[in-house]
Amino acid sequence: MCCEKNVSPGLCAQHLSMEPHKLSLINGATQVVILGAGFDPLGFELHQEFPSARFWEIDHPATQRHKVRALPKVGAEQFHFVAVDLNAGPLDKETLIKNSFDPTDRTFWIAEGLLMYLPPDIVSLLMSTSKTLSTSGSQFAFTFMEKQSDGRIRFDSQSKLVDWWLRRRGEPFLWGTTRSELVDLARPWRVTRCFDHNDLRELRSGLADAPIAKGEVICLAEI
Ligand SMILES: C[S@@+](CC[C@H](N)C(=O)[O-])C[C@H]1O[C@@H](n2cnc3c(N)ncnc32)[C@H](O)[C@@H]1O
Repeated sequence: MCCEKNVSPGLCAQHLSMEPHKLSLINGATQVVILGAGFDPLGFELHQEFPSARFWEIDHPATQRHKVRALPKVGAEQFHFVAVDLNAGPLDKETLIKNSFDPTDRTFWIAEGLLMYLPPDIVSLLMSTSKTLSTSGSQFAFTFMEKQSDGRIRFDSQSKLVDWWLRRRGEPFLWGTTRSELVDLARPWRVTRCFDHNDLRELRSGLADAPIAKGEVICLAEI
């Protein structure tokens, strides 16, 4: 994804999803969990705008340690870093709770540019575990790779060079789905809306001339 020359919906999602994030916070979500946050500043931007909400960034230890080292101090009461390898097992409820997470508070979950790197059983497990940590009215915004008609999981315009690069870096896409399969896979979350490259173009007139990578879709779901 990093080497795509087009604008990736995942990257657009960071801007687009600011709107649902804000809406959700306004509508009563007081907790925001960003899974696979990487070096994206989204959490900090939201933290500045909603200083009373509480944030958790969950990421692979190998990625997160660089971010934690590079960051200016953020309020430790409100912003928590939790290092977890999601492939190693289900998201541990106790670890989150130990870090001040309250499953009875309404939560907004975000996973942008993450799920395609996890095997299908881990994606399913993440959906069910996050549900057990979420009270009614919680929401989940995530991106997924839409499976191509030949079953391949890649950007529509992805060159052989990008295929090779992702394999070489050990970052091949492991999971993708169709929109109809997604409804079952996301359960117990209820899919409310998907945005693809065409929706993004309509929603963001500023992208009118920019090429948008086709294949990664943003999904909003709720409990
Ligand atoms: C392509 S980056 C996306 C970063 C950010 N969300 C964005 O949209 O710019 C993928 C992220 O997924 C995380 N990730 C990949 N596999 C993971 C795993 N097994 N456990 C936890 N995080 C993982 C990486 O550490 C990285 O932060």
